[in-house]
Amino acid sequence: MTDEIDYEVDIEDLPAKPSRGQVGAPSVVVDNAHVTYRVFGGRKGGTVDSKPSVMSRALNLGRPATGPIRQVKAVRGVSFVAHHGESVGIIGTNGSGKSTLLRAVAGLLPLTDGRVYTASEPALLGVNAALMPKLTGERNITVGGLALGLSASEVASRTAAVAEFAELGDFLYLPMNAYSSGMASRLRFAISTIVTPDILMIDEALSTGDASFRRKSTARIEAIRDNAGTVFFVSHSLASVRAMCTRALWIDRGVLVMDGDVDEVCDAYHLYVQGRKNASSGARL
Ligand SMILES: Nc1ncnc2c1ncn2[C@@H]1O[C@H](COP(=O)(O)OP(=O)(O)O)[C@@H](O)[C@H]1O
Ligand SMILES: [Mg+2]
Repeated sequence: MTDEIDYEVDIEDLPAKPSRGQVGAPSVVVDNAHVTYRVFGGRKGGTVDSKPSVMSRALNLGRPATGPIRQVKAVRGVSFVAHHGESVGIIGTNGSGKSTLLRAVAGLLPLTDGRVYTASEPALLGVNAALMPKLTGERNITVGGLALGLSASEVASRTAAVAEFAELGDFLYLPMNAYSSGMASRLRFAISTIVTPDILMIDEALSTGDASFRRKSTARIEAIRDNAGTVFFVSHSLASVRAMCTRALWIDRGVLVMDGDVDEVCDAYHLYVQGRKNASSGARL
């Protein structure tokens, strides 16, 4: 497992480190958040027969999936307060609950327990942003802009700028399922920042795209932060987190294990990942 740390980012592409001064009023308060997924059937690691007999399948026709309902406690009792003007990195190994936490804070997933308060509606930018593959890029910009609260004429006046930022060229008029993944992720980023959100959440969305696009998008994120917004940034790249954030949260198996200065948290996480790697290579010898 070496995918937790990504060394591909060119340090020169990264912006100058933000200063830790100028932190404003709270913008996001997360109080003892819990998110539990309910998984039906429990195939993965579950105890259900993988091949039910013809008879048992026939008897179950028309009924919901059989098997135990497995609960996945993806976020377990996370609390923190983020402020205006802060950019907060969220780090942790795969499956530790980072995406779940962001989606819950953005109001896209219900909490099983606890509370989330936000000063305004967060804009979540992620690999799963709801763009419609059958619609053209142009239509997606319209729909996305309207969903973010722009009027039809505001959307119309900004469409060209969004398409240019996303470097779509003539693909603007083609359905999105004709786009490369890089092109689609550039468009997602451009749409999510069509209005300057007060709270911007980025889930691994900058990992695609070339260095020049990363520079452009980083500049846009800095502008949001400088406008006293709050940025949450989930990334595999510790170098990007260190460069873009002032503070970091380290989540492990759904639990917040560390919250503090970005360099201190990244150092501790790095040691942990190195330790795991050494332990697993030692076990193989
Ligand atoms: N839709 C879902 N249904 C059931 N379990 C899920 C779902 N999404 C994520 N999980 C599980 O929740 C845990 C946290 O996942 P996730 O939030 O995606 O972690 P991360 O973003 O840190 O990789 C993992 O165990 C994952 O398998
Ligand atoms: Mg994730």
